[in-house]
Amino acid sequence: MVKERSGVEKIAPYQAAKSLESVKREYGLTEIIKLAGNENRLGCSLKVADLLKDRHSQLSYYPDPNCTELRETLSKLHQVEPEQLVFGNGSFELIALIAHAYLEAGEESIIPYPTFGWYLNVTLQMNAIPVLVPLTEFAIDLEAVTRSITDKTKVIWICNPNNPTGTILDKESLLSFVEKVPESILIVLDEAYIDFVEKEYFNTIDIIKTHENVILLRTFSKLYGLASFRIGYGIGSGSLIQRINKIRNPINVSYTAQQAAIVSLEDEDFKQRVLENNRKSLHLYYSELEGLGLKYIPSNGNFILFQAGMKGEEAEALFLKNGIIIRNGSEFGLDGFIRVSVGTYEENVKVLEILKKNIIETRNQEE
Ligand SMILES: Cc1ncc(COP(=O)(O)O)c(C=O)c1O
Repeated sequence: MVKERSGVEKIAPYQAAKSLESVKREYGLTEIIKLAGNENRLGCSLKVADLLKDRHSQLSYYPDPNCTELRETLSKLHQVEPEQLVFGNGSFELIALIAHAYLEAGEESIIPYPTFGWYLNVTLQMNAIPVLVPLTEFAIDLEAVTRSITDKTKVIWICNPNNPTGTILDKESLLSFVEKVPESILIVLDEAYIDFVEKEYFNTIDIIKTHENVILLRTFSKLYGLASFRIGYGIGSGSLIQRINKIRNPINVSYTAQQAAIVSLEDEDFKQRVLENNRKSLHLYYSELEGLGLKYIPSNGNFILFQAGMKGEEAEALFLKNGIIIRNGSEFGLDGFIRVSVGTYEENVKVLEILKKNIIETRNQEE
């Protein structure tokens, strides 16, 4: 047997949400609703469907390695230089590239926990040392993160809003944290869900204008519903971006992904529909969960974390039996909680009905 590089044996396989296909086969179901991957249940802009119809002649070419047109569009939109952008095969790829460009074996990588699981995986890939800092009241505790900094700290991963809890950092704490962190440490602000924040929030892109050690990550997988295309981007100082670019697979973003991103940015109606559905759905959850006496965490994303009134695995099984895939909080160390992605309004109603019916039946059995 060929022995793997040292350190690889420590990596647990990344726990992706169950796929539609695997659940259909395992449970013999034909209709499945997947609310486990924080995808967009309203689909994506119809402009993307139009685009796919008539671009057939382009598909045999390698795509533009520089994502030139999209780069120009985003540089105007965010008021940054084109060289301050790096594109990835989803932000999954960018997170790995950051680890590969910056983390040395033995250096520390601070990860507030629970959070998006990929930061831990890429840290271990580099034989770096993960330093997990527990959340306080489901939110990232920046003071605790600051206290965890040592001479060995190299990268700090801040998921804002945080997946799976949906909490967001307030402007003052985030800015003062960035001020306190030494310039020799890279701060990654993963903003996969920033588009869903309902209340007024500040423009975090301003941070990178004054701090060369900060990179922001954004994705087209969530608000724009382009998860299957695989496209995300990073925004940072030119020199930081250049380092990541050096180790990037030069042709990492497909032609269709680049084109789909461009037309999606133009479709304001679609964006507004998604945001409206997200807002209405989250408020439906809040009022129904309050009625049921179940604790929930108000969300700034397109998902909600709440107590299911039963063990996470029981809830997972209950929903699977009913053709719905959700995420068991035990996977993130939050037993008794489940994370459910926002669905169409009707899908959310269905989730709540299943939950309600189960709780009533259990209470009746106990009486
Ligand atoms: C916080 C966070 N970052 C990054 C990603 C990966 O997104 P992408 O589809 O752009 O790879 C996800 C996916 O769920 C996520 O939750």
